[in-house]
This record gives sequence, C-alpha cells and structure tokens, in this order.
Amino acid sequence: MTTVKDRIEELRNALHRHNHNYYVLNQPEISDREFDEMMHELQRLEEEHPEFKDENSPSMRVGSDINKNFTQVAHKYPMLSLGNTYSEGEVTDFYERVRKALNEEFEICCEIKFDGTSISLTYEDGKLIRAVTRGDGEKGDDVTDNVKTIRSIPLKLHGDNYPSSFEIRGEILMPWSVFDELNREREMREEPLLANPRNAASGTLKLQNSSTVASRKLDAYLYYLLGENLPFDGHYENLQAAASWGFKISDTTKKCSTLSEVFDYINYWNIERKNLPVATDGIVLKVNSLRQQRNLGFTAKSPRWAIAYKFQAERALTRLNTVSYQVGRTGAITPVANLEPVQLSGTVVKRASLHNADIIDGLDLHIGDMVYVEKGGEIIPKITGVDMESREFMLGEKVHFITNCPECGSKLIRYEGEAAHYCPNETACPPQIKGKIEHYISRRAMNIDGLGPETVDLFYNEGLISNVADLYLLKATDIENLEGKKEKSANKIVVGIEQSKNVPFERVIFALGIRFVGETVAKKLAKAFGTIENLENASFEALIAVDEIGERIANSIIAYFANEANRTMVERLKTYGLQLQQSEEDLSNRTDKLVGKSIVISGVFARHSREEYKEMIERNGGKNVGSISAKTSFILAGDNMGPSKLEKAQKLGVSIINEDDFLAMLS
Ligand code: IVH
Repeated sequence: MTTVKDRIEELRNALHRHNHNYYVLNQPEISDREFDEMMHELQRLEEEHPEFKDENSPSMRVGSDINKNFTQVAHKYPMLSLGNTYSEGEVTDFYERVRKALNEEFEICCEIKFDGTSISLTYEDGKLIRAVTRGDGEKGDDVTDNVKTIRSIPLKLHGDNYPSSFEIRGEILMPWSVFDELNREREMREEPLLANPRNAASGTLKLQNSSTVASRKLDAYLYYLLGENLPFDGHYENLQAAASWGFKISDTTKKCSTLSEVFDYINYWNIERKNLPVATDGIVLKVNSLRQQRNLGFTAKSPRWAIAYKFQAERALTRLNTVSYQVGRTGAITPVANLEPVQLSGTVVKRASLHNADIIDGLDLHIGDMVYVEKGGEIIPKITGVDMESREFMLGEKVHFITNCPECGSKLIRYEGEAAHYCPNETACPPQIKGKIEHYISRRAMNIDGLGPETVDLFYNEGLISNVADLYLLKATDIENLEGKKEKSANKIVVGIEQSKNVPFERVIFALGIRFVGETVAKKLAKAFGTIENLENASFEALIAVDEIGERIANSIIAYFANEANRTMVERLKTYGLQLQQSEEDLSNRTDKLVGKSIVISGVFARHSREEYKEMIERNGGKNVGSISAKTSFILAGDNMGPSKLEKAQKLGVSIINEDDFLAMLS
C-alpha cells in the first residue's frame, strides 16, 4: 500500500521532472491541467501532513505573501565583473595575451552575454539552499524565496554525479514576451513603463512579495560553476554536466579552437541575437580549461581568462534641428531633441530625449550639430555624442536650457538635489491643468465615463473648463455644439459627471492629484481626518502622526491647501455635492474595537466571504496578516482550517475564534 509519505515523494519527483521538461527543455509531456492537478494534490497533502514539509518541494514555487527585508550574505567567492572590449582588435589582443601567457594549446568557450541581473546559487546535497544577488561583489541580498519561484531553476537536482556542495552563477532575465506584456498592461493602467527587461528583472527580484515575483515569469540561464569537486577540467564540459543535473544552460554556447572560429561566432550572434527570446548585450569569451584559468588568475577586478565583447549599440548620425521643452502633469520639464528623421534599428527616429539641463551642458550641444542617436535597451532613443568634425563647417547657436515655462511663462525652479526643472505654476499652467483634470477623471480616481484626454483638451481649448470644479457646470448643450460631439455622447458625459458625485471621499482625495498622495495614502487620510475641512486645516504634526505619512507627504498636503486657488476649487466641489466627508455608513461601521490586533483569516466561512471579513477587520481598526506568528492576536477560523496552521497556532498558543464569536465581538 502506498503511504501518504510515498505519494508526496512521488508527486514531488514527478513535478520536479515536469517542471524541467517544460521550463528548461521546452518539451512538456503532460498538459498544464494535469500539472495543476498534481500540484493541488501535493499542496493538499502537505497542508494535511506538515510533518513531511520540505523547503525544496515544488509547491514552494508559488511564493508567499509574507513581506520581509532581505538579509545580506557574504559571497564565498567574490562576484567579479568582466573586462569589456568593443572592437575586433581588442579581442585579438586578449587572445594573444592568453596565448603568450599559457604557451600551450587552449580552447575558448564562447557564450552569449545575457543582459539581466546576476545571481549566485548554492547547492548542497543536490538541493538549492541559497540564492544571493551580486550586491557589491563581496556581499549581496539573500533572495532565495524569490528565486525559488523561477521555474527554470531546479530546487532539487537530477542524477547523482553532482558535487555535494557547489555554487552556480548565472543571469536572471525577463523574457521579451513577458516584458512587452507587462508594459502593455502598464500602458492600459496609465502607469509609467519599464525601461528595459534588465531593470524589470532586477526590480522584480527585489520585490518583497514572492507571489508577485512568481507572477512575473522570470527565466534564468546559468554560465559559471564554482566548487572544489567539479567533474571536469573543461568549463564547457562542466556546463553540459550541469544541464544534465537540470540547469538551464544556453545551447548557444560553443567551444572554439582558433581565433577565426571566435570571430565567426561573434559575427553570427551579432545578427542572430535579435531572434533570442531574452536580451543580450554581447559575447563572453572564456579560456575553457580550469587549470589554465587558474594559471592565468585574476586582476583586482576581473579574471584574466575571460573577456566580454560588447555589441555595438545601434547608432545613427543625424542633424539636430531644434530643441523643444515639454511640461508634464507635475510641472517637470523634459527637453526633447527634434532631429532630421533617420533610420535606426528598424524605425524612423525623429525625436530623442535630452533628459535634463546637465545632459545638454555635458554634450555642449549646438543647433545644427550632427549628433549620434542610440537605441540602447531603453524605449526612447537618446543622444550620446556630437560629431565635432562636422562642426568645423558650421557652428550653430549653443543650446541653453530655458529659464521660463514654454507654456505659461513662469520662471522655472530647480529643487535642491533634483536634476529636473519645474514650472511652479500648478494652477494656471495649461498642461498641468489638463494633466490634473485627466487624472481626476481617470478610472481609479473619479472614473467619469465618456471623458478622455482628447475631450479634456477640447473642452479646455474651448474655454469650457479650467479646473475640475468647472466640469460640474457643463451642460449637454455646451458639449453638443462642439465639433465631433453628438447628442448621445454629450449626454453620456453629463451623466458620468453627475454620477461622480457618489464617489467615496477617499477617492475624491486621490483624484485631487496632490503630489505624493496615491490611493493608499488617500485612504489613510480619509480615515484619519474624516472631512475635507479637517484635512485642509491639519497641522504638520497631525499629518505625520498618521500611519505611513511622512514629512514629504505632509509638506506636500500643506503646500496644496496653502494655495488659495486649490481651496476655492475644493469649496466649489463641496457646493456641487461631492462626497467630501466619510459617508454615514463608513462612519457608523467604523470602530476601534480591533486596534492593535493582528488577525489571520483561515478556512472557509458560512456567513461572509473572506474579503468581507478582511474589510471588517480593517474597518474596526485591526490588521489582517497572512501568516501565524507569536505576534498574531487570534485566528479567525472557518471550516477546514489547514492542519499545519492549526498545529502552529497551538504551538504558539494563539487563540482560534470562529465566525459567530467574531461577529459577536464586533456587534
Ligand atoms: S561569466 C568572473 N558569463 O556579465 C566573471 N558573465 O561583467 C564571471 N554575464 O556580472 C561571469 N552573461 O552578470 C559570465 N555568459 C556569461 C554572462 C555573464 C552575462 C554578466 C554577469 C557578470 C557580468 C560581467
């Protein structure tokens, strides 16, 4: 008869194998559904039998909700970087240096240089025990829980010929497909776009919540083994062995025995790299024999046995026609170079970002200059240099950063320590006004149907609105007379605006667009102050006394209400009937019966949903937390509470309360 323990073991082995087939070999043998069913069975058995818990079970890949700061760990072997080269000449120099130093035959292992974030994994007895970021090279962050969510990293190795203890290093990457998808979603939610997959990967790895990491679908290629008992003298051969233990090793890796083979490799991948699923920025050349590597040794910063050849970022030369300046919603000024259109990596580039005044000064930019434009990993092309020789024929006017706002003429300011210039005229500078109105009507704020950026632009240009309060004076007849607006859409807009009068207080606060006041802060403010008058008159001390509100936010709120125009506008919103205080319902349900209590919700409930219980806890001043610890005040338990939770609660002496008792406690 199979015991539970056997079944758990069987499921774990099968899931490890299917993971590898799917994520490393790209050859799944079973359907996603079958995989999920096995995973659910394993999760259920593990929950029921905490005695068989295993940190490296495939079920650990789903991540956890527990937030924590990372611990720093010293690297056993420092994580060095590689010397960079940019030309064939430098590659030849490297090859010659190695040849002279070794004075015997050698092979070069050529690899793709992956452009992600590096990681060092430690395995003991075939199990992943730690994953540490590069950090400063000497010590890095322990990101083991996050790394466990990456499906192509084995938690348990295959076979039995791996060393009992070793480290393997590689690159964590966000595949282009995932990156593009993430940016599409961000665009829809009007969130700032991620600059490139490298930043996205390293940012994801540092997230506090490993279940979000799990949802980001990171990938990893491994390229460097370290340890006392590696099976072979050849680096390439060791990598192939690592592949057989379950690691994802790129099949682009190739061993070469002549310099001309090395160049063939470089030239081939210089073109083919565009078809790889992940970002790369060059080629890495490594002397293959570990014995020869030891002979060559290291300089202070990098190995003498390896070098990186960086691909030329695609670059074009074109003329700078003019520089214009854009004003954002917050008043930040962005200088933009207007260029003679030029082909670059498959698109026509007409504009490039100049970032800020320091960059312009650094380039010593003049109108008419022939400038180099590059598209690195970034989305917006940038100017990286000026061709000084063409300047001999013509020197145009030097580019000086503007001193006044191009839209409203106000004198620009620069906050200490910030690179950007700002237009301080928040309430009367057109792009800032329009930006604020666009924010006000957006889905997460007042969610006004029928209105979008173009309509806001039209209404503003026609003089119909100059702040958000003006929206409430709009009549369908005003709108119908405008070009392109039909009766039906006019009505929809007016109805949408009318409905926004029911939007709860906390979202109105968010919609005002006070700098640094996002959705969460707005919620806290609504709860802490209850009415807009209280918020308007709140002192600095009262503001920073609120949980999660610091000096920066407090100062911004004070500055907002110190502005007479803002006060008048808020006053008008009040007369139009917006929700500028917490509703009766909100207030009457709110108590501080659970203040200071950390409560875990577990199991299935009969009278309310989990979400409802969570809301109830928060409304009564308590905190809903994900996992049981000695600090947990009590567990709100429904049916089928997991046995491992039960055991933990008993061990820590945390009391368990059923839903009837909980409701009685609040009534
Ligand atoms: S070997 C001792 N191989 O490039 C050096 N590094 O500047 C060991 N990288 O920090 C690194 N692809 O993050 C190596 N195939 C590859 C690589 C690679 C990308 C990164 C790595 C390292 C940096 C070196």
